[in-house]
Amino acid sequence: MADPVFFEWDDKYSVRVPSIDRQHKVLIDYINQLQQELTQPEPSKRMVGLVLKFLIDYTNSHFKYEEMLFGMHQYPEQEDHKAVHNRLFDKVAVFKQRFENDDPTVGPDLLAFLKDWLNHHILIEDMAYSDHLVEKNVQ
Ligand SMILES: [Fe+2]
Ligand SMILES: [Fe+2]
Repeated sequence: MADPVFFEWDDKYSVRVPSIDRQHKVLIDYINQLQQELTQPEPSKRMVGLVLKFLIDYTNSHFKYEEMLFGMHQYPEQEDHKAVHNRLFDKVAVFKQRFENDDPTVGPDLLAFLKDWLNHHILIEDMAYSDHLVEKNVQ
């Protein structure tokens, strides 16, 4: 695989809710760790599996956290946003399955998917709740 291009935090990703920005930074960190391991000449299945597990668990709690804030602050688009979370989570579960089945193409596919997800989900879908939560003074 080519030299990894790590995903870097940029202020354009800020949803102006500090607790959520912090969680997004952790997600970026996990994705970079996964990339670091997957781009080794011989990636360790144990390591990749471990980081993937952390990433999935963290994503799950991050989605729950956002959804809790939506509920607390009556975010009008919450049902649509939850549906997007569920779809993303289902896709990650398929990747996990492929990884467990030793699918040799899973690595690059997974990284491309995760980067697109961060870019698209944070910049477009998460950004859509930004004004609403900032107005409610969510920290
Ligand atoms: Fe998010
Ligand atoms: Fe979200």
